[in-house]
Amino acid sequence: MSAPASRPFYVAVGNEEKVFKAAFRQGLSVLLKGPTGCGKTRFLEAMAYDVGRPLITVSCHDDLTTADLVGRYLLRGGETEWVDGPLTRAVREGAICYLDEVVEARQDTTVVLHPLSDHRRQLPIERLGQILDAAPGFCLVVSYNPGYQSVLKDLKDSTRQRMVAIEFGFPTPDVEEKIVAHEAGIGADAAAELVRLAQAIRRVENGGLREVSSTRVLISAGRLVAEGLSPREAAAAAIAGPLTDDPHVSNGLREMIDAYLTGPEAGRGN
Ligand SMILES: Nc1ncnc2c1ncn2[C@@H]1O[C@H](COP(=O)(O)OP(=O)(O)OP(=O)(O)O)[C@@H](O)[C@H]1O
Ligand SMILES: [Mg+2]
Repeated sequence: MSAPASRPFYVAVGNEEKVFKAAFRQGLSVLLKGPTGCGKTRFLEAMAYDVGRPLITVSCHDDLTTADLVGRYLLRGGETEWVDGPLTRAVREGAICYLDEVVEARQDTTVVLHPLSDHRRQLPIERLGQILDAAPGFCLVVSYNPGYQSVLKDLKDSTRQRMVAIEFGFPTPDVEEKIVAHEAGIGADAAAELVRLAQAIRRVENGGLREVSSTRVLISAGRLVAEGLSPREAAAAAIAGPLTDDPHVSNGLREMIDAYLTGPEAGRGN
């Protein structure tokens, strides 16, 4: 993985950059909390660039084993050979290791994180009978979406309390407009229109949506606008469609789209 040539585009929303860099310098682990599409991954890409460390990302899922993270013996040409997993590589290289959606991983997998995420900064590799000290620059970062946690899954307190938490919400409208305009390549007015719609959707409480419109869906809508779709068509396809399958909720969203956006109406019945 080669470092990006220029800083990934990230607009700070609060003091998150300051908190991250302080934690990084102190060798503390970091927990990024926030809904989907609010900039956690992009933030970390920008931070990795700023602190000059490689970023190794692991998407967690419930089949992820400790061996997937730490490494395993593989057969190569009749010989067994130890191959480091992504976590071990990060520990050796002094990279930032990002465990995305860490609550998806089983707890017996995440136990290996404990000695790494506290003052010891050590990774025990049982199969090798070794304990590795993390190289300078190693930083463990995990993310999770508190909105999903009710599904019985939560981070163990013993894991959480080893970390510094940074909470992500949606950016303020002026910042979000800038992000949408930049990422979608559309004008400030078109971006502002989409952000106003998103603000309205986010204000509706108990609107039947599991997740509200994220910055990510606004960018997708903006990209469709850049391709020549009307704002209404773009929002129907990129915002209403992905957010819900419920016809009732979907109608409500279509009404908001018609109220907040201009242009030819989105085709109905598709
Ligand atoms: N503050 C920001 N500055 C720049 N771009 C942003 C910002 N917030 C969000 N974005 C944009 O929104 C998109 C989605 O953000 P990102 O992929 O980082 O979300 P995420 O929080 O990691 O979501 P998930 O939990 O689904 O992985 C990014 O590709 C980026 O274009
Ligand atoms: Mg992400």
